[in-house]
Amino acid sequence: MAGKLVFSPDALVRFRDGTIIVHTTASAFPALEVAHPMLAGWLCQFTRPTDPAVVLAALGAGDRALASQAVQALEHNGSLVAAGSEATAAASTEAATGQAHRHLRVLARSAYELAADLRGLGPSAEREVARRSGIGVERRLLALLAGVDALRAELAKLRDASIAEQLATLGVDGASRGLRLHIGCGRGLLPDWINVDVHPAPLAMNVLWGLPFADGSVAYAFVSHLLEHLFFPMDVRAFLGDLYRVLAPGGIVRVVVPDMEQCVAAYVGNDRSFFGSRRETWSWWPENATRLEDFLAYAGAGPEPGHLFEAHKYGYDFETLGRVLGDAGFVDVVRSGFMASAHEALRVDSVSAVAGARYGDRYYSLFVEARRP
Ligand SMILES: C[S@@+](CC[C@H](N)C(=O)[O-])C[C@H]1O[C@@H](n2cnc3c(N)ncnc32)[C@H](O)[C@@H]1O
Repeated sequence: MAGKLVFSPDALVRFRDGTIIVHTTASAFPALEVAHPMLAGWLCQFTRPTDPAVVLAALGAGDRALASQAVQALEHNGSLVAAGSEATAAASTEAATGQAHRHLRVLARSAYELAADLRGLGPSAEREVARRSGIGVERRLLALLAGVDALRAELAKLRDASIAEQLATLGVDGASRGLRLHIGCGRGLLPDWINVDVHPAPLAMNVLWGLPFADGSVAYAFVSHLLEHLFFPMDVRAFLGDLYRVLAPGGIVRVVVPDMEQCVAAYVGNDRSFFGSRRETWSWWPENATRLEDFLAYAGAGPEPGHLFEAHKYGYDFETLGRVLGDAGFVDVVRSGFMASAHEALRVDSVSAVAGARYGDRYYSLFVEARRP
């Protein structure tokens, strides 16, 4: 116990049945459990760099032994660290953001596994957990949900300012008209268009927040290989409804998606080259996937909960895409081809990293355009 100690930035304090539990987010060691009320208050001194020798000396002999043990245990599990050491530095924003994405993958997987555990156990889970800990599963989940909601509410507060700042940089305001939106742009940016995607993008946002443009302010929208990443039908409907709102009467949306009809035909026709040559574009696709694995993953079947954001969540043929566009109010839904839009402004498919992928002389993608009446 040489020098000053301080709680590490990832130390966590929890309260249960009169016990205070201290641990860290990363520690594999058991948490310290302190039932002694004096000790709990006394430990709070270490929220600032504090010399344990000095504060221990101020205690009576009995309390001192207990407090000394607690300090040693907290040092051991990494909750208390030497003041000024590397461990006290808050993680860099980049490192913390990377960690946050990893935590979210675990959280999504855990939520699924928890649901399966509860279904496996049935009502005894609620009863037994309530008997053992005083708080049943339903109440504990409610507390977790409140935590998630609170965090989302914090993030929601940041959105408006972030969007306003980006729109100002792009020179777009409520009076702008005739805009061209490239939504879900990935890395391919179209000059003189508003390129929208998650961070980093010229307009970085989640498209499900709602498009930050005035009604009828958009002349053309290009949406390449985004729709299959949205949940069907709810999020797709919300997105297309919003797109309809921002398009001006006569405005055109061009949608490119994986063509599921061709995929089904290739599967039924045992066309191995269709699936094989896809790897020329999607090189990361597992070499030994069967035709069915290939097809189902492309169609959005069975995504891993931890990788939901990147995964395909649905697949479209012309009829289905036409129906969702029609449901959103679009008319004149027509099939198009690679770089073959009837509208010169929309001959932009080549900016996409995937729309140009072919097997033989055919494209893997389905190209569709529709008009807002
Ligand atoms: C397969 S990539 C397609 C990129 C590009 N359009 C192309 O054709 O090469 C799908 C893109 O959609 C973006 N995306 C998926 N869900 C999104 C969301 N909710 N909000 C904004 N962008 C999203 C991803 O970040 C990714 O860049």
